Amino acid sequence: MSYSIAIDGPAGAGKSTIAKRIAKEKGFLYVDTGAMYRAMALYLLRSGVGPEDMEEIGLKCKEADITIRYEKGGQVVLLNGEDVNGLIRTEEVGRMASQSSGHPAVRRKLVELQQRLAESADVVMDGRDIGTCVLPGADVKVYLTAGSRVRAQRRYDELTARGETCDLDRIEQGIMERDRRDMEREISPLRQAPDAVLIDTSYMDIDEVVRAVIALTEQGPRGF
Ligand code: DC
Repeated sequence: MSYSIAIDGPAGAGKSTIAKRIAKEKGFLYVDTGAMYRAMALYLLRSGVGPEDMEEIGLKCKEADITIRYEKGGQVVLLNGEDVNGLIRTEEVGRMASQSSGHPAVRRKLVELQQRLAESADVVMDGRDIGTCVLPGADVKVYLTAGSRVRAQRRYDELTARGETCDLDRIEQGIMERDRRDMEREISPLRQAPDAVLIDTSYMDIDEVVRAVIALTEQGPRGF
């Protein structure tokens, strides 16, 4: 049976950075589930569907074929055969993903894809509902979080390093709005699974967090 590590938490807590590092160290597949919701959101935006139009979202999502390919160790998301990795990291797509991921038809489709991937290989999977819904039997479950100001500051540093001008307060406000939407939606809300280990990364560096998660994989009945 394949081994799985589930990492959940709010936007900007460092999930993908940590998950990628662990996948590399362990030789596991890194599965970025947010990228799948983002690819679906891109399809909906291109189709002109409004974020509030749940009926249209339910119909249109059926037309989007989302698949994953691994190239040079990295995950490539394909939307109806097109590599959309370079198009899904915008604020607009993130906002739409946060809205449309609340639709049951969207979730059903993507959760099935995620579960199939976890059956086929050892995985580190990150998202919002991995420990609670997608992989309830995961070998290690982590809930990664950090204060909203810290998460906003990290995003601010990332954007300014890229030469973009931005406002820290506005970024923090966006993060808090996204937290609220992800935590308060009816299906599969962002929540810490009862058996997940909480790691607050506010005052930890990447190496410390990676070591803490690796230590968890070394414990337990299937530890190695
Ligand atoms: O992690 P991210 O920012 O790329 O995710 C984008 C949105 O997708 C996020 O706001 C909520 C949604 N999402 C989800 O509902 N379930 C997941 N497992 C992953 C992401």
